Formats: sequence, structure tokens, C-alpha cells
Amino acid sequence: MTSLVASYPAGSAAFPHRGLVGIAGLAPHEILFLLDEAEQWVKLNRLPQKHDNRLAGLTIINAFFENSTRTLLSFEIAGKRLGADVVNMQTAQSSIKKGETLIDTAMTLNAMHADAIVIRHGSSGAVQLIADKVSCPVLNAGDGQHEHPTQALLDALTIRHAKKDFNGLKVTICGDILHSRVARSNVLCLTSLGAEVRLCAPPALMPAEIEQMKVTPFLDFDAALEDADVVMMLRLQMERMQGQFIPSPREYHHLYGLTPERLAKAKPDALVMHPGPMNRGVEIDSNVADMADRSLITRQVEMGVAIRMACLDVLTRKVRGAEGWT
Ligand code: NCD
Repeated sequence: MTSLVASYPAGSAAFPHRGLVGIAGLAPHEILFLLDEAEQWVKLNRLPQKHDNRLAGLTIINAFFENSTRTLLSFEIAGKRLGADVVNMQTAQSSIKKGETLIDTAMTLNAMHADAIVIRHGSSGAVQLIADKVSCPVLNAGDGQHEHPTQALLDALTIRHAKKDFNGLKVTICGDILHSRVARSNVLCLTSLGAEVRLCAPPALMPAEIEQMKVTPFLDFDAALEDADVVMMLRLQMERMQGQFIPSPREYHHLYGLTPERLAKAKPDALVMHPGPMNRGVEIDSNVADMADRSLITRQVEMGVAIRMACLDVLTRKVRGAEGWT
């Protein structure tokens, strides 16, 4: 039987980066390269026997300084499916101090000879700080309000499977844009691939730097939905809010919740996405989230494992003596 997965495809020099701290800095062809690499893993993950041993002998540390369910699990499964030894380090954010402590942690991880480190941290910029101190590839699993690159890549892969082409695709992202690293990475990724991105939020949750982004801002959700091909909903990130940003969850739902009636304002075949965790009845109604023909939410989770396998494979090629960085 011919293998489904290519062994070190020739194009790996197409990704000349040491790690993956953000979508910022990636060229469109590099984003597409990672999406293309992920396709083999989408296929493999649908088989009963999901193992590929190319990372055998390598150690991957998942250092999560902030809570996570799907991202941590997804990276863990991705590393294990590729045959690596995967270690999870979960630290409650409250016990972590910034500055020296973080650098000390980085030095400790480095001394353990990890071959890749995956980091989630509550502070924007913390992942870059660690990446600058360690000698192995670092992958950002979400840093504060800054970036969440693998989420944007998995979202792009999910969209590509459903809609084929990004050019001119109208994607409406609605919710707590201000605090969302998912929104930030998705804006960079989708606009770079040619999609038209609309950001919708109440005024208090719209970032000040919106004018520098290549997006159209909307305060009115109905207007933002008109003619949309994809509607991506985001949770209110209460844990990052100091003070009151919205009058009440009920009022928020009234203005910005995705209901079946609201979805009807988008294109008839518009698709619904959400990175999770969802707050049903607040930003999204259950009868939208669970629409079998329109909701891509579980598909996003599936694509997440494939994207993380692609990123771990591509970024460890140099260590493995396969084609590496230029
Ligand atoms: C997101 C995150 O952590 O940034 N979740 C995720 O990774 N799937 C979004 C969120 O927490 O709302």
C-alpha cells in the first residue's frame, strides 16, 4: 500500500522560519504551504491507524501558563500521532510572575533539550520573549491579546475545505475583538489570502488600532452580516476585562448574538464558525451552533490537529536532518 503521507516533501524550504510566533511576518505562500502540508494529516487522521513516526525520539514540551482544553489536547495529540515524546506543563497563571521568572522558565525548558516548545501565556509578547531565549523552535498557542497563529491556520484550512477559494470571500468576525488573539491572527491570515474581513463589536470591544487593519469595522451586526460567506463568532473574554465592557449578557445577545434570524441576513449558504469555548445563548444560539449543514465548529477542531501536526513536522525538519531553514 502506498503511504498517504509524503516523507519530507521537497517544498519544505518554502517555510524558512525558526518558529511560529504569529501570522505576522508570514508570506501568503508560506501560509498556503502549511495548509497544503496539513492535508496529508487530515487524511491520516480519518484512518483507524493514525500513526506516523517521523518525530520519534524528539521531545515536545507543551508549556501552558493559561487554561486550555482543545488547544492543549490538540497539540498533545498532534505530537503523539507523529511519534514524539510529548510532555505537558500546565501552570496556573496566578503562580507565574513576569520578567525574570519567565526567562528562568525558558532557560529551564531549554536545558531539558526539548526539540520544540509550544507555549500559551496570558501576556502578549511572552512567547516571543521565550523564543528569543531557547535554541529550539517555539510555537505560539496563544499569547495574551496578541496572536494565536495555529487557530488562524486551522480556521483557514476549514474555510478552504468548505469554500475552496479565499479571493473575495466575505468573512464577518463578531464578538470581543478587543481581547481576541484569534481575531487578530485571523485578520492577518485571511486578508493575506485575499478574503474581505469585516469586524463587528460594540464600541467598547473594538480595538483602537482598527484603522490600521485591512478590515471594515461594523457596530451593527445586521449590516456586518449582509452578503457574508462565513460568520465567525467570538466569546466575551470576561477574564481579560477589567471594568464593565457590556451592559449585560442578555443585552449583548440581543445586539450581537447569532440567532437563526440573524444568520438569515448572510448568504443562504453562509457557514458558521467559533474557535470555542462557546457561551451558548450569549454570542451564539444552540440552534445555530448545532446546524448540521451550516456549522463548521467541530470541523475546526478536526482541522486543528492536522494543522498542528503540519507545524510540528515542518518546524522540526532541521533537527531531524531533513530539509531545513534557509
Ligand atoms: C481561544 C483562545 O484561547 O484564544 N480558544 C481556543 O484556543 N480555541 C478563544 C477563547 O478563549 O475565547
